[in-house]
Amino acid sequence: MAFIDVIKERAKANKKTIVLPESMDKRTYEAAEKILKEGIANIVIIGTPEEIEKNGAGFDLTGAKFVDPYKDPNRQKYIDKFVELRAKKGVTPEQAEEQMTKDYMYYACLMCKCGDADGAVSGACHSTGNTIRPALQLLKTKPGISSVSGFFLMEVPNCEFGENGLFVFADCAVNTDFDSNKLAEIAGLSAESFKMLVDAEPKVAMLSYSSKGSAKHDDVTKVAEAVNIAHEKFPELQLDGELQLDAALVPSVGEAKAPGSTVAGHANTLVFPSLEAGNIGYKLVQRLAKAGAYGPVLQGLSMPVNDLSRGCFADDIVGVVAITAVQAQQNG
Ligand code: ACO
Repeated sequence: MAFIDVIKERAKANKKTIVLPESMDKRTYEAAEKILKEGIANIVIIGTPEEIEKNGAGFDLTGAKFVDPYKDPNRQKYIDKFVELRAKKGVTPEQAEEQMTKDYMYYACLMCKCGDADGAVSGACHSTGNTIRPALQLLKTKPGISSVSGFFLMEVPNCEFGENGLFVFADCAVNTDFDSNKLAEIAGLSAESFKMLVDAEPKVAMLSYSSKGSAKHDDVTKVAEAVNIAHEKFPELQLDGELQLDAALVPSVGEAKAPGSTVAGHANTLVFPSLEAGNIGYKLVQRLAKAGAYGPVLQGLSMPVNDLSRGCFADDIVGVVAITAVQAQQNG
């Protein structure tokens, strides 16, 4: 069974409620129709009756819940929560009200925070920054986590590497500034994400242009230090570095460049040394190897909120909703 079909089955087994705030985009309704028909999740769409009538006409949305952000009986509860959460920033009730009606992603995050939804998916017509900023501001990180990062679950066809062609690539979406501590944290979170979604043992490679000291530069030292920190923080984890990509993936190269490593040549969780490398890396594999790229899926947030590519199809939204629902199952 394809990766995403397994995830959909897992989502159906314990249905969660996922909010879709992009009522201005027809793909939202096309995806919602499929999600509801397949029973993957309960769906809430945020929008005015005019928006829903204009963009959702012709779709069978039986079972969906519609929330009008101007007339919702819970509106005051969300305004109060917004003000409470942003008290240190001095947000007033008027500003909260304006923000959450101007940008429905804020509304969606408040629904999650107040327990009225289990997760949210947006980004079909909003940039990554605009999609995730409300989640960073209102939902914040899980306890003990300093930084949210974004991974792609890559499904490479006819591939003998990774877990039968399945990989986690991170960080491909969020952090523009990496130090060794952040890289180590991303490694730990990515291993958890791999285990949760693929249900197999993560083998984490900390990538560089150097393998085990073959090159000397501050960029290499940053990754090597991250490896040391990660070993201390996650002693049980199969993790190695710094490794070049071929040493991470190809057994013969791994054996030559990092002899004795249990990760080199067998990695399934790839931690990139910068956002440039991660973002370019996943797109190369997606385009040249015709790989499935699910994400960016956010890790480290207190509740699951996920982004979409603006070029996405309705089926991509269905897949990311299923992943979000499975993440929500971990939160209880
Ligand atoms: N983890 C946790 N919290 C964070 C993080 C993070 N990684 N980054 C920012 N925050 C918090 C800040 O602490 C701040 O909290 P506060 O308001 O309570 O003080 C809040 O989020 C807003 O942070 P800012 O730095 O003011 O927001 P900004 O918009 O500048 O940055 C963002 C956040 C959106 C994540 C930014 O780093 C960004 O744009 N990243 C790159 C996104 C991108 O373009 N990715 C590539 C495309 S994705 C693709 O190709 C599919």
